[in-house]
Amino acid sequence: MGIRTAVFPVGGLGTRFLPATKAVPKEMLPVVDKPLIQYAVEEARDAGIENFVFVTAHGKAAVENHFDRNAELERALRERGQDDLLELAIVAGTVPGRMSYVRQMDALGLGHAVWCARNLIADEPFAVLLADELLRGDRPPLADLIDVHTEVGGNVISVIEVPQDATGSYGIVTPGVINGRTIEVKGLVEKPDPADAPSRYAAVGRYILEPGIMSLLGEGHRGAGGEIQLTDAMARLIGGAPFHAVIHDGPRYDCGMKVGFLEANVALALERDDLGADVAATLRRLLP
Ligand code: UTP
Repeated sequence: MGIRTAVFPVGGLGTRFLPATKAVPKEMLPVVDKPLIQYAVEEARDAGIENFVFVTAHGKAAVENHFDRNAELERALRERGQDDLLELAIVAGTVPGRMSYVRQMDALGLGHAVWCARNLIADEPFAVLLADELLRGDRPPLADLIDVHTEVGGNVISVIEVPQDATGSYGIVTPGVINGRTIEVKGLVEKPDPADAPSRYAAVGRYILEPGIMSLLGEGHRGAGGEIQLTDAMARLIGGAPFHAVIHDGPRYDCGMKVGFLEANVALALERDDLGADVAATLRRLLP
């Protein structure tokens, strides 16, 4: 079955970006001039996703408002003849009735956030995208996962190779057969010490999951950091259905970290026709 629904967990506290995230959701922080969550939604839309499910929390109303229409703003821009800005005020692909919001109510971890979407996924395989992982590519990175799912079914996640000393920040894969960019997943472990890590293949926030994961998440087991971990539930799916990882080969910015977020801003600004030259000149001036 094709992948029609994507879940966007945006229920986290975003503590690493305080004070910016006290009243503004982390996922609304802009990279150049577009909020992180919009990059993720556009990636999903361009990969063919039709239903967008956001798992939100107290203080995240800006996410809902962002994917709604703003009649007052649109009227003002229309009256001023600013059609180019009018186009930016509407997120393409946000069809009424296809954007759903559910509250996590308690920030118990990513696994708990995904479980909160259980009544909105229609018992079908679904995608999960973490907006603070900004992945770029010639085609939407999620599309690579959907291709593997179409071919072999089961669960599919996106990975990159991280330095050995960084494994403690990621879910890490125990690899089986490797075929080009596709890796058979034999095991998964959340945040292993570098000495215990089964590989350097780290999950980076894109998942295709079978709906059966919901009942495992519903058991509410606490894992690393006392949180209900998505990785732990995924590990229990291995063996029951095919499980693969796809190596993401385009740029990746960890926008949950300050340096990654700043790098994304600089890199995407340098790519822009309207900004690139000015930003490059500014950087040259600032650098010693
Ligand atoms: P992070 O681990 O980056 O946590 O979550 P966080 O709360 O957003 O940020 P810090 O660590 O406090 O700075 C990864 C993704 O999972 C979501 C977050 O919103 C983010 O998109 N998440 C995490 C939830 O939706 N609920 C949770 O309980 C935890």
